Amino acid sequence: PAFRRINDLMSRMTLEEKIGQMTQLDRVYTTPEILKNYSIGSLLSGGGSVPLPNATPKDWVDMINNFQKGSLSSRLGIPMVYGIDAVHGHNNVYKATIFPHNIALGSTRDPELVRRIGAATALEVRATGIQYAFAPCIAVCRDPRWGRCYESYSEDPQIVKEMTEIIKGLQGEIPPGGRKGVPYVGGPDKVAACAKHFVGDGGTTKGINENNTVTDWHRLMSIHMPGYDASIIKGVSTVMVSYSSYNGLKMHANRNLVTDFLKGRMRFRGFVISDWQGIDKITTPAHANYTLSVLDGISAGIDMIMVPDNHTEFIDTLTYLVKNNYIPVSRIDDAVRRILRVKFTLGLFEKPYADYTYIDQLGSQAHRDLAREAVRKSLVLLKNGNNADEPLIPLSKKARKILVTGTHAHNLGYQCGGWTIAWQGLSGNNHTAGTTILNGITAAVDHGTEVVYKESVDGSDFVTDNNFDYAIVVVGEPPYAETAGDNANLTIPEPGPSTITNVCSSVKCAVVIVSGRPLVVEPYLSSIDALVAAWLPGTESQGVADVLFGDYGFTGKTSRTWFKTVEQLPMNYGDEHYDPLFPLGHGLTTEPVQC
Ligand code: IFM
Repeated sequence: PAFRRINDLMSRMTLEEKIGQMTQLDRVYTTPEILKNYSIGSLLSGGGSVPLPNATPKDWVDMINNFQKGSLSSRLGIPMVYGIDAVHGHNNVYKATIFPHNIALGSTRDPELVRRIGAATALEVRATGIQYAFAPCIAVCRDPRWGRCYESYSEDPQIVKEMTEIIKGLQGEIPPGGRKGVPYVGGPDKVAACAKHFVGDGGTTKGINENNTVTDWHRLMSIHMPGYDASIIKGVSTVMVSYSSYNGLKMHANRNLVTDFLKGRMRFRGFVISDWQGIDKITTPAHANYTLSVLDGISAGIDMIMVPDNHTEFIDTLTYLVKNNYIPVSRIDDAVRRILRVKFTLGLFEKPYADYTYIDQLGSQAHRDLAREAVRKSLVLLKNGNNADEPLIPLSKKARKILVTGTHAHNLGYQCGGWTIAWQGLSGNNHTAGTTILNGITAAVDHGTEVVYKESVDGSDFVTDNNFDYAIVVVGEPPYAETAGDNANLTIPEPGPSTITNVCSSVKCAVVIVSGRPLVVEPYLSSIDALVAAWLPGTESQGVADVLFGDYGFTGKTSRTWFKTVEQLPMNYGDEHYDPLFPLGHGLTTEPVQC
């Protein structure tokens, strides 16, 4: 029946209305009138967009319904679909549950857990009236200097492929007999997912964001493509194109990979969405030859254009290109058919308005418990004592006095990383609900244990004078996203290194690294008693204390190779000169402490 309804609708649409459906705008610069007048297909709050300040889920629902009213009053009344990143939970709304970033989830090796996280994320996204998430990122990050490395589950294509299980949580599971490639969304508690960024985004030279991925076809297929095949089998609704190039050709203009391979060979029937102004950037500098950019992007097979720099210019340009036979109408029809298919799958024609059914799901206790479980399963114990007889972890809860120090011990913004409320993340503890690592430690130790907290330690005297039983040093990277996170040296920012040196030279210490990737740790390793990779754990960091103090054992296995020096990069498991500090899969285990 959807097939017939799509045909019927398309037979009544003008070219301009079809192109309107292919356009996605940022809600900050849009009005319901614009949706109505141009039959705009989609809205988003992107990473770079401004979140609704202090808005409740109910405010979100009302705001989105107001836009939907605009769409429904267009000539044919086609509902719009609203998208948001939601890359580690609903990352654009206050008080949402923020799950560990993908690099951490890859270290759990637990696809079933990741599926449950997808389901919880879908509920929190639906709580705000949104039906579409630009997740999962299935990049295979091959160089940790890349600013998006933490959005990648692993350097290993097999792990990334397994983690596409999250799509079953986000969208629901296709009932037996489903056809490969057909988008699937199981009900009003699910959202359309988006596998991104097609393809090779994690393989760029020196890990430079949006750069060129230089590799042969075999490696493209065996390293970067398996995640897409797995996503399509699971009925992923949309695929986002990468800003990066493949062997010099921008992916946004790559007809061979987008149309012939993804839509043809892989039989993907959902819609292909550009990245933010991705079409504008086809010619360099951005917008240099806009007509050519639009021609190349649409001809390559992109169906929906995320935030063209100027939407009337985009609509006029594409209309001109079709009317003058540069682009066949069949290409436009293919795009619109795919977009309408996803909207039908989402049930938007039957129920275009959101209601308040799911508002209590946002930040629910069940989701926070799930996030805490994910944290404790994702932490990786890289080192524990200098030999097996002297492990420091599990730490004693019964110590007399302990020191907790470091820039990342008591900072929710730092724990959550980029893509949290704001695109580049936030620092400090005011922006969202959650528990810091310090809070978790304080709650875990016995009542008689004195916990002294100091953000940094300048000299070793303070440590020696205080006679601490042991110290927990929590340091790492500040938040970042995309190009802002590209980093050629990967050192722990100061005062992290001096805090480690001052503390660990004077007292037994466990160092917890909060980061979106492996950092240079080798120089400190001999002075550290225990070393833990906490990745970017999100809002529920009691999970860190759960394993530090032995309520649960450590089980995480690193999803990435820990290098000795940056000169070794890129270095991935299976490479010829593989000489890591800790190999992919390393992770010491501990037994839970019996009470
Ligand atoms: O989904 C993102 C993408 O990953 C990077 N550019 C912006 C998009 C929307 O926020």
